[in-house]
Amino acid sequence: MVTTGFGIDFGGSGIKGAYVDLAAGDFDGERVRVPTPQPATPAAVAEAVVELLDGFPDRTGPVGITVPGIVHHGVVGSAANIDPGWLGADADALFTEATGHEVHIVNDADAAGLAEARYGAAKGRDGLVIVTTLGTGIGSALVYDGALVPNSELGHLELDGRNAEQYAANSAREREELSYEEWAKRLTAYYRMLEALFSPDLIVVGGGISKKADRFLHLIDVGTEMVPATLRNRAGIVGAALWAAEAAARH
Ligand code: BGC
Repeated sequence: MVTTGFGIDFGGSGIKGAYVDLAAGDFDGERVRVPTPQPATPAAVAEAVVELLDGFPDRTGPVGITVPGIVHHGVVGSAANIDPGWLGADADALFTEATGHEVHIVNDADAAGLAEARYGAAKGRDGLVIVTTLGTGIGSALVYDGALVPNSELGHLELDGRNAEQYAANSAREREELSYEEWAKRLTAYYRMLEALFSPDLIVVGGGISKKADRFLHLIDVGTEMVPATLRNRAGIVGAALWAAEAAARH
């Protein structure tokens, strides 16, 4: 069993990577960051990833990288909040060729969901757990008895005639200068829809804003147990490393 992995989190402003202790679900050493190139085309991001990995010259083994879009067998299937050049890109092949390492990409929310289920807020929880990330968009991960069902994309459900993430993501709160009370009303509508569709056993709320969960979580009025994510900004890197280690073991 591999005990150390390597994960990379591809975000809007930074691309961050670290060794991950797969037994503990935490970084094993320091995290390195390079700025996200603008525009963040696949080729430019691949170059930045090579630069990041240059900081770890002795590294071996598979690398996991998060992508904020649908990922179907290593190919990106949507690009709602990223450069349109990602649509249809075989990112596994692109990154593997650019870096010389076996790379497996994974949807960013799925990475967070895997990490929370294995090591964090949903550790040891049976049944259906829905992990949501509230950021620029709304990311989602469905985890049933610890197994991930990838690419659920629940941020794009229709809510009140609109794309849910445009109405209820953290970016909507910022853009429209909503108070936490106002935002929580929208989140209540959103999470009630998830309840009606999936009858989850637990909902985990992640994304950068989850560190301020005490400001809004109690204002969301749903029947399902709801808890903040615990891995915070480590979830992407840890989940990506786990995804890649498990994908490599399967091949
Ligand atoms: C994308 C998802 C992603 C989420 C969070 C959405 O717009 O469609 O794939 O997980 O944003 O980044």
